[in-house]
Amino acid sequence: MSATESISLKSPSLPGAAYTVEHERLKKWVEEVAALCGPERIYWCDGSDAEYDRLCGEMVEAGTFIRLNPKLRPNSYLARSEPSDVARVEDRTFVCTANKEDCGPNNNWMEPESAKIILKDFFKNCMRGRTMYVVPFSMGPIGSPLAQIGVEITDSPYVVVSMKLMTRMGKAVIDALGKDGDFVPCLHSVGHPLSPGEKDVSWPCDAEHKYICHFPKTKEIWSYGSGYGGNALLGKKCLALRIASNIGREEGWLAEHMLILGVKSPEGEKSYVAAAFPSACGKTNFAMLIPPKSLAGWEVSTVGDDIAWIKPGQDGRLHAINPEAGFFGVAPGTSAKTNPNAIATLSKNCIFTNVALTPDGDVWWEGLTDEAPAELIDWQGRKWTPDCGRKAAHPNSRFTVASTQCPSLDEKWNDPNGVPVSAFVFGGRRASVIPLVFQAVNWDFGVYMAATLGSETTAAAAGKVGEVRRDPMAMLPFCGYHMGDYFAQWLKIGHMVTNPPRIFCVNWFGTDSSGKIIWPGFSENMRVLKWIFDRVHGGSGSVQTVLGWMPRYEDLDWTGLESFDRQKFDSLMRLDTALWLKELESHQELFDRLKERMPRMLVLVKEMLSLNLAR
Ligand code: GTP
Ligand code: SPV
Ligand code: MN
Repeated sequence: MSATESISLKSPSLPGAAYTVEHERLKKWVEEVAALCGPERIYWCDGSDAEYDRLCGEMVEAGTFIRLNPKLRPNSYLARSEPSDVARVEDRTFVCTANKEDCGPNNNWMEPESAKIILKDFFKNCMRGRTMYVVPFSMGPIGSPLAQIGVEITDSPYVVVSMKLMTRMGKAVIDALGKDGDFVPCLHSVGHPLSPGEKDVSWPCDAEHKYICHFPKTKEIWSYGSGYGGNALLGKKCLALRIASNIGREEGWLAEHMLILGVKSPEGEKSYVAAAFPSACGKTNFAMLIPPKSLAGWEVSTVGDDIAWIKPGQDGRLHAINPEAGFFGVAPGTSAKTNPNAIATLSKNCIFTNVALTPDGDVWWEGLTDEAPAELIDWQGRKWTPDCGRKAAHPNSRFTVASTQCPSLDEKWNDPNGVPVSAFVFGGRRASVIPLVFQAVNWDFGVYMAATLGSETTAAAAGKVGEVRRDPMAMLPFCGYHMGDYFAQWLKIGHMVTNPPRIFCVNWFGTDSSGKIIWPGFSENMRVLKWIFDRVHGGSGSVQTVLGWMPRYEDLDWTGLESFDRQKFDSLMRLDTALWLKELESHQELFDRLKERMPRMLVLVKEMLSLNLAR
């Protein structure tokens, strides 16, 4: 009997879902969820292109999607979310552990049993009048020893088509699961049931109540009330970071908020670099970097732009896979100048959310072109002109697109064994204090620098923008357990391998006295990446400072960027002792918050730093 036949509620013959499911635990869970959520019908997704096209067509009919002009943007759509549902909701995100201390002060806590009682109340009949989609997906190549399977149940067709682009989704995953394979159950509802005859809205959600809950012990995710991004595409932040960080902790690996790129020298030597920058701080841009023409022969390729799973290998090195299969990237600021690879990736088969619509049926966002079009429809569907005083695209508007469309995609992006990592790079948005680049003297100092990473908040999360906060390893919103234990995990992993990656810190965002960003950034970041590559290969020059090794002006390759003179460089590299002593005080505040689990090694590193600064 097909799964569709066995458990469809009211509509026994559904299109496109005729495959057999032999996994009893999965079938039982789907039945239980259906009984709780009371959907109109159940639909098992097969992940085919035909299914994708059909669901997109249905969303066009329903007003959720606007089909873009197929001549300008083939097979692409625009979605506009509810204005209250535009970003991750960190204050509504919970980690549910029996013991409150285990989730740490870095997470909101709920006791698992009481969380379930509250959630079941919200989920009761929450899918009334809607289709309940069963979405089997794999994070990582199907069958890879590093991959994890999840099944998302959702009442949002927007989530289904997004999961098709962002993950390996569909019947192949059901086949891989077999009769008793392990999977992470991910339950999602927009929280907007429909009474009989009630007309649906274009972006259903629960404007008042949202819960993004994780249960590390039972490896479950329950997400209620939001249809946007990381709140709703549960393979991404919820599974691949918060749940996976817990699995990695038990099994001896790391789940990180990192891009992975390959960098090849003109001599043909290749290395891989993984870099952690907080949300909307430049991972996609760095992952797709095109070196300036003046640095002839250098090549950068893209393995991933947001998440890396990193495990010790037999060869004494750390190996990384990108568990995703697509990009959910920030639109504003993306242009043919800043990120031509992204622009090429977005040319077709793309879903845009909360960007502006042009009169000829294409998309626009701030920064796409130097000059804004004379008129647009903004992200909320209102008429927009350049002088109206509003932004045309939401600052956290995004594109969703499959990795395979990226011209710079690395040949090993899909390799089940991952790629060996030669360097870790950490960076945030800092107007001052943090220099353009430096290398930590050893693993423990590097982990200290990563653990104390600070960054100005961005529009990727609901709340205030532009405030400096500590965002350890860019994982503050994503580490699914106590941050002190996570630091210990980092210290341990580096000493498990004989040849750990070298650790670097960067800051593209230093400003001058008028607040203008000094470093040209984007493709010019290749100059810093080249220095990093050469350091890893034992080549480039440096001086030792309190923080570690730093390039002098003459240690970077300035061919083609001679206008960036020594004075500008020095202004980015200056170590201001007074500012650094203040910075250490702020590190101490973080350490105080985590004190019951703070590794002693990092406390000692801090002590050494402050003694050195005082010299
Ligand atoms: P998430 O997807 O939220 O995790 O973010 P991300 O780190 O992938 O962010 P993304 O690369 O999309 O960068 C977001 C913003 O940073 C865009 O507005 C970019 O224009 C800006 N940005 C990226 N790289 C640079 C750079 O080198 N210099 C400057 N000044 N801005 C940059
Ligand atoms: C981030 O906020 O870091 C993202 C976007 O990558 S979301 O998937 O919405 O979390
Ligand atoms: Mn991210």
